[in-house]
Amino acid sequence: MSNNQASYSSTTDPSASSRCVRVCQNRTCKKQGAKKVLAAFKASVVPGVTVTATGCLGQCGNGPMVLVLPDRVWYSGVRPNEVPLVVEQHLLGGQEVEKMLYSRFHSES
Ligand code: FES
Repeated sequence: MSNNQASYSSTTDPSASSRCVRVCQNRTCKKQGAKKVLAAFKASVVPGVTVTATGCLGQCGNGPMVLVLPDRVWYSGVRPNEVPLVVEQHLLGGQEVEKMLYSRFHSES
């Protein structure tokens, strides 16, 4: 009997620099150009950041939707030409891009 809990790696570890960028590739977001957004993220290789296609994030119509984990930062209506900004400012610089935030989950009051 061994206890392997020590080897469990948590993505919520604040000391970890690993992030995951999820780009919705479901029907509605795809119609809104999500394929190119995904391609743009994949073209920008950032150490410690994984880019994955995901199914519907439940926010159809506001896409393309992008979710950055573990930050839980949502971007809506993302355009391929905005991806470099997210990469530079958020993924490399650690600061979310306020003007692109999804207002439903990030209210700027
Ligand atoms: S299709 Fe992208 S959030 Fe539903």
